[in-house]
Amino acid sequence: MVEDNAQAPFALENNKFTGTVGHIGVFSLNVHKHIQCGEGGVVVTDDHQYSLAIMGAVYHGELAGLRAGLNLRMTEPTAAIAVAQLAKGPRNVASRIELGEELTDMVRDIPWIIPPRADAGCKHVYYMWAARVINGKRNLFVGLLNLAGIPMEMGYSKPLNLIFDQTQHCGVAETVDHVEMMTFWVCGYDPPKRQRNKMREIIKRAADEAS
Ligand SMILES: Cc1ncc(COP(=O)(O)O)c(C=O)c1O
Repeated sequence: MVEDNAQAPFALENNKFTGTVGHIGVFSLNVHKHIQCGEGGVVVTDDHQYSLAIMGAVYHGELAGLRAGLNLRMTEPTAAIAVAQLAKGPRNVASRIELGEELTDMVRDIPWIIPPRADAGCKHVYYMWAARVINGKRNLFVGLLNLAGIPMEMGYSKPLNLIFDQTQHCGVAETVDHVEMMTFWVCGYDPPKRQRNKMREIIKRAADEAS
């Protein structure tokens, strides 16, 4: 299993770091992630054979004793930034967890919003905060938030089945995306306390209107 852990360094799944649950884990270090060095990423595995195949793609085969491969290596200056960022990772992630949990608290009393939750032994690191609006008025609610300046979004990216084969439908994923889900890009915004308090008021007002 290859885990796409692009968005979730330091997250936990059943007390294991995500990215280490499967055979291979990938982490993105592009410019809008928790830990970033502009561009690039990290691949981890504890399997020797897989590590050879991966190294074959990093340094035109040489690291893996191959005669051919790809050249996807990161430049040294970029890697130096990544190392410094890694040290800041837990702090960056902690501040995003705080914002994610605060957003959940802001909608706690709205019965038709289902906020994210982390099960026991799991830790959500909130690249995005995503909630379900189940009263059928997501577009109205998010529209009201946007009008008041909160960059809440409707849905996330298009469900993959609609990109690759528009004849196959995945009812649950499509309903969540088209009708229910709203997302806040926690990694993209870090509102100070004063703005968070304002957001709380706006959410409450918009919820009264969309109830
Ligand atoms: C879930 C997920 N997978 C993969 C990627 C791709 O990462 P990169 O841009 O480093 O190739 C992203 C980046 O946005 C992502 O969010």
